[in-house]
Amino acid sequence: MSEWRLEDEIEAYYRRGDERERLTRNARGRLEFARMQDLLRRLLPGEGLKVLDVGGATGVHSAWMAADGHDVTLVDPVESQVAVAARLPGVRAVVGDARELPCEDAVFDAVLLMGPLYHLTDRGQRVRALAEARRCARPGGLVAAVTINRTAGWGDYLLFKAGGSDKGLSAEASLRVIREGVLRHFDQGLFTTAYLAHPGEVAAEFADAGLEDPAQYSVQGFPGLIPELERLIDDPEVRGHLMEGLRLIETEPSLLGAGNHLLTTAVVPA
Ligand SMILES: C[S@@+](CC[C@H](N)C(=O)[O-])C[C@H]1O[C@@H](n2cnc3c(N)ncnc32)[C@H](O)[C@@H]1O
Repeated sequence: MSEWRLEDEIEAYYRRGDERERLTRNARGRLEFARMQDLLRRLLPGEGLKVLDVGGATGVHSAWMAADGHDVTLVDPVESQVAVAARLPGVRAVVGDARELPCEDAVFDAVLLMGPLYHLTDRGQRVRALAEARRCARPGGLVAAVTINRTAGWGDYLLFKAGGSDKGLSAEASLRVIREGVLRHFDQGLFTTAYLAHPGEVAAEFADAGLEDPAQYSVQGFPGLIPELERLIDDPEVRGHLMEGLRLIETEPSLLGAGNHLLTTAVVPA
């Protein structure tokens, strides 16, 4: 039995079941999904891999990775989400926490943390989760983690304001998150408690977990904040143009912190 537990309000947030449709419901979700799929298909080190999807929720990414031919195991602390993921073809789903993964050493070709670091507000626990990912990946394998950029709450605040609502996030809280990094569930009604990071912090946490020389990729970039994103992502011609431009800027250091999400990857040392 693991000593690690999610905070009650984080668990309650995910028990609502919204993750099933988060990446299809609106243009922002569809862009995040398309970009994560595009990045991972290029970065996963080969075909037919053993992949561990930590914080995989209901299996939105596990599903396509299994369909692509990978052997996918999903780990998530929220039982109701794991129950949904367990019904996906080709996906093994187990309850567990990123800080103490229920896995043997050096078993996986790739360990993905697409969510757990969002909710670990303590730096030591984020480094611990990365070290666990490193432990479970084989030497030469890939560790990949997604983080929320430090300006995401402020960007959302401005977007909501432009649309005539602040969705419960105050101007003061949105600036405090830029200063301190921590978004508390009681600051707003949209998301749960989260840590919003600058790219350099994430790279330093990778290094402290023994994952040197990480590469970093902007996921949505600043185009993800365009209010009329539907018109870009749902028009096949413009979508192609958007996706190509995002590929061109994805590793530009001056743009890594612009936009909502960042992907950081490292190869596990021998
Ligand atoms: C925003 S969802 C992301 C789901 C999916 N991976 C995606 O990219 O769309 C964050 C997920 O991280 C999980 N999570 C939160 N804290 C975690 C922890 N300490 N260990 C593992 N997973 C965690 C949540 O249960 C949730 O399913």
